[in-house]
Amino acid sequence: MTNTLQYAERRVYLLQKMQQGIAIIPNAPLQQRNADADYPYRFDSHFHYLSGFEEPESVLVLIAGQRPLSILFCREKDPEREIWHGYRSGPEAARDNHGFDEAYPISKLDEKLIELMGNQPTLFYPMGNSSTWDQRLLNLRKTVQEKSRIGISAPGEIRDVRTFINEMRLFKDDYELKIMRHAAEISTTAHKRAMKFTRPGQFEYQVEAELLHEFCRHGARNPAYTSIVASGANACVLHYIENNAKLHDGDLLLIDAGCEFNGYASDITRTYPVNGQFLGAQKDVYEIVLASQAAAIATATPGKNWEDPHNAALRVLAQGFIDLKLCHGSVDGILESGDYKKYYMHRTGHWLGMDVHDVGEYKIDGNWRALQAGMVLTVEPGCYIRPADDVPMALWNIGIRIEDDIVITRTGNEILTLAAPKTIKEIEEVMRHE
Ligand code: GLY
Ligand code: MN
Ligand code: MN
Repeated sequence: MTNTLQYAERRVYLLQKMQQGIAIIPNAPLQQRNADADYPYRFDSHFHYLSGFEEPESVLVLIAGQRPLSILFCREKDPEREIWHGYRSGPEAARDNHGFDEAYPISKLDEKLIELMGNQPTLFYPMGNSSTWDQRLLNLRKTVQEKSRIGISAPGEIRDVRTFINEMRLFKDDYELKIMRHAAEISTTAHKRAMKFTRPGQFEYQVEAELLHEFCRHGARNPAYTSIVASGANACVLHYIENNAKLHDGDLLLIDAGCEFNGYASDITRTYPVNGQFLGAQKDVYEIVLASQAAAIATATPGKNWEDPHNAALRVLAQGFIDLKLCHGSVDGILESGDYKKYYMHRTGHWLGMDVHDVGEYKIDGNWRALQAGMVLTVEPGCYIRPADDVPMALWNIGIRIEDDIVITRTGNEILTLAAPKTIKEIEEVMRHE
């Protein structure tokens, strides 16, 4: 699914936003895992969003102004290394295939940057993302400064290029939405597979294996984040990733897992009984979380603001916590005091895109920003009840979260992950059929 024109258009847009100056956007480094083994390579999302170029050791340089230029630095062709490590595009082919104006070997980067930075008023780059790059660019800028005697000036201003790119990435175009729909579809299939597979006596990692198998066999080689497969009390640990406990009859299983497909994340949570049948207290809590999610999703529409779905979910949860005798008083009183935070301590969602917690401001000028068509977010309320003297024992260790991926459309929203069974009836039916 490459689309050279799409990437070129994004560069043109960014160049217009910059008006003047030079932007330097490095790709992510290879990361060593141990000894001679690297982690699977994952490109930098900003770099990829603007280039579509897949190889490590590459840098995008944009020069704004009257004669805008986009320049790629990448590895040279190297027949010997290509035998060991595979194909390298090389600068010429990269330029021609990806629509850059110029391309140079990465080994020439410092030399060329000293030349390209000269007389540019502003240097745009992702500051603070990598101390190595921060230092390298500051050193190069210093070298340019030293040329003042021959009439060349260094950029007097340094700005974070992500201010522009984050805003661009927040609004997904049709091309991105198509990819995200597909990522979501793969992940819903994986959740269904996990539900059908789950039985008492298995281990959490065996369920995780089913998820990963389903991701990979559809071409999503990596999860978008480490899968959470948390049974029983483990579900009350928000970032549980050990995934090594045995599944017990009568416990719930919380799975927060989503694949990355073509650089885009999906992020789904489903919670269901290990034995396929919700017990009374589990049912009560589940229905509350489900209702809170429905209220939040109904509020995720154009014209509402970022905080509205969270507030809608909170009101339903607060009433539920009163009904379950977890909290006491009125809904407004509980929201005011924050007593609900003992059982619901996270936010109801985040932007979703190339990164699972995607870029984009949540507030504009101090106010929660309006939801607009093209934004993609998760809606993921939950309830986590740890054992305590003031908690009815039937509720102990119930941890439930329900998470879907939502696109804001012109008229409302589209739920990308609807196919993952969610109601008690749907879940029990899927688990009964195998
Ligand atoms: N899986 C990370 C999250 O739900 O935010
Ligand atoms: Mn999420
Ligand atoms: Mn999640």
